[in-house]
Amino acid sequence: MNNPLIRPRRLRATPALRRLATETRLHPGDLVLPLFVREGTAQALPIASMPGVMQHSLDSARRAVVEAAEAGVSGVMLFGVPEKRDAIGSGATDPDGILNVATRVLAAEVGDALVVQTDLCLDEFTDHGHCGVLGSDGRVDNDATVKRYTEMALVQAGSGSQVLGLSGMMDGQVAAVREALDDDGYSDTAVLAYSAKYASAFYGPFRDAVESTLDGDRRSYQLDPANRREGVREALLDIAEGADVVMVKPAGSYLDVLADVAALSDIPVWAYQVSGEYSMIEAAAAQGWIDRRRAVEESVLSIKRAGADVVLSYWAVELATWINEKE
Ligand code: PBG
Repeated sequence: MNNPLIRPRRLRATPALRRLATETRLHPGDLVLPLFVREGTAQALPIASMPGVMQHSLDSARRAVVEAAEAGVSGVMLFGVPEKRDAIGSGATDPDGILNVATRVLAAEVGDALVVQTDLCLDEFTDHGHCGVLGSDGRVDNDATVKRYTEMALVQAGSGSQVLGLSGMMDGQVAAVREALDDDGYSDTAVLAYSAKYASAFYGPFRDAVESTLDGDRRSYQLDPANRREGVREALLDIAEGADVVMVKPAGSYLDVLADVAALSDIPVWAYQVSGEYSMIEAAAAQGWIDRRRAVEESVLSIKRAGADVVLSYWAVELATWINEKE
């Protein structure tokens, strides 16, 4: 017998057969758009390291969230870029600080059309650029930082954020924030725990986007890229502390961790396709070295295939538009 008995190619023969055989589909509803809002600017400003992504003014952010909602994207994740920074990141807990103002404005603008979510971390607001407050020894003080996070949580929830993105990687942050929210009547505000957040070079362009002043690194609180088990452990800890969603970040270089977490989690698992993942594809596409649209689609599809229920991506709106065109 010279014919193969089993011919997997049968189901690859036509677009219609391939559509039937597909295991993973992208849907606009599975996408969240990260958005930068800058204090004191009347118009959107480009970010050099992230071509196509802007530091928004309040007005341009309004237009961006309306556009995202119209494309069917499920949510936005807001980051503030303040004008002034200090040691404890006061701007983060000031109801008139840019992130809280933007949350109020955008939540009012979109109503229930999409979910307004906020980054809950101090790095955009501290003058030293770390994700927490520093102790007298110059190290990030875990428990003092968690206390600041609980204060931030109440202001963000009060401003109308529906999902708080805890991205600081302090121990005990999820339980502490959950308790503070519940004690203050915000029991319906959800906690998205950036559980497995690695100390990654792929955040490089983001630091530019938020004008981070960090000199040094975050290795004393973010995970070692070498560690797979530890990422799973962090996710399980956050689930036990009451997280509503766990996240793996970055996404593309951590698909193994994502698959492990997805296999063990009994709550939704999201992944963040970070700034460096975005900029690498944009840069290669700008050189004509890669097919931009196919690379974008494949990169996000791979993250879903590995187990993410939802993907945070700077391409969320464009990708949603492409998906809508196809349907
Ligand atoms: C912390 C935070 C960071 C990112 C999201 N939240 C920066 C960091 O931890 O250094 C990075 C996102 C990206 O690179 O797209 N506030």
